[in-house]
Amino acid sequence: MSVLVHEFSNGVMLPVVSLGCWCLEAKDESTKSAVAMALKTGYKALDDAFCYENEAVIGPIVSKFDGKATAHTDVKECGPFKVVSEEEFRKSFEKPHGKPRDDRKIFVTSKVWVTHFTPAGVREQCEEHLKNFDRSSCDLMLLHWPGIHVGFDEPESSGGSNPLFTLENQKADQTQTRITCWRTMEQMYHEGKFRAIGVSNYMPKHLLPILEDVKARKAAGDLKAMYPMVNQIELNVFCQIPQDLDKICKDHGILITSYSTLGGVNSVAKHITHPVVTKIAAKHNVKPAAVLLRWAMQMGYTVLPRSTKDERVVDNFNLFHFNMDNEEMKELTALNSNERNLMDPNEIN
Ligand SMILES: NC(=O)c1ccc[n+]([C@@H]2O[C@H](COP(=O)([O-])OP(=O)(O)OC[C@H]3O[C@@H](n4cnc5c(N)ncnc54)[C@H](OP(=O)(O)O)[C@@H]3O)[C@@H](O)[C@H]2O)c1
Repeated sequence: MSVLVHEFSNGVMLPVVSLGCWCLEAKDESTKSAVAMALKTGYKALDDAFCYENEAVIGPIVSKFDGKATAHTDVKECGPFKVVSEEEFRKSFEKPHGKPRDDRKIFVTSKVWVTHFTPAGVREQCEEHLKNFDRSSCDLMLLHWPGIHVGFDEPESSGGSNPLFTLENQKADQTQTRITCWRTMEQMYHEGKFRAIGVSNYMPKHLLPILEDVKARKAAGDLKAMYPMVNQIELNVFCQIPQDLDKICKDHGILITSYSTLGGVNSVAKHITHPVVTKIAAKHNVKPAAVLLRWAMQMGYTVLPRSTKDERVVDNFNLFHFNMDNEEMKELTALNSNERNLMDPNEIN
């Protein structure tokens, strides 16, 4: 079996397709079933987060997984990604900090939620993640959002007096909070707690001050200063990446991960029934969802399809044997209408 991966400069390999775990409710049997089905099918990665409140349920399924999956031998080269053997992929878990204490088979991404945007908070969420997955290091940790939207209520779980949730803080420029958290992420990377680090939903105004801070520290000889390795954003054929953000990420070697590639819960029906999508799907004899995912992969984005239905979990992994030509890619790219489904991170100060 081979695996299609993005290889970071530190040798860490992120599989191009992860199972998205948002809305996989901890209390639902379908969550356990979808995760077990994904692992059995051959998914090598999951995208989770502290605020999805399901890591305590998903962690043990992943740590007990025996590694046996339906073989996918016909993995075609795709975009800038690399095809590696399963053995090479497993070996990459030794990068960059040496062999993990667990017998790791699955790459897991997690994210620090905005309730915990302090150095102590980042550490607390990391420890919780490691406990849930019975691991000594997290494969990829992201800062989930750039900050707190004006008018966001403090969640009950945050204690009721979290200073980050005051209206004053929500209205203020949250740049310093982001820089402080980013420095904590770097520090924890070097302590061996994280194998890779990045951000999510960071727009140019959020990203640039962090990049400038890293650049200045590098220039001053700080060998531990690091640029984010990933920016995970809402991205699909109807909601494509703004050019300025694309350039910033490319210039700094930041991998773009597409979320809501299928359109998310509110727009998936519109996306999978669009005539351009269904026409290309029929030509390649695949499901429309596969066309949307393959478009993102051929554009060079890693993807995180999410489903609570076993059969769709399988369908959404049927992505590796076909290639869309330039004409088909152009037709799909031309569908862009900058339509967001989720909150606009540009609103965060
Ligand atoms: N970083 C962030 O802030 C952020 C934000 C959003 C999402 N994410 C990540 O990205 C993942 C995916 O994004 P998403 O959950 O917004 O949306 P998505 O994967 O684009 O779409 C999920 C929706 O599509 C349906 N679906 C899945 N496969 C299908 C298929 N083959 N045919 C028809 N319908 C299908 C699902 O319904 P059923 O369950 O009924 O199949 C669900 O309603 C999340 O799970 C999460 O890991 C990250």
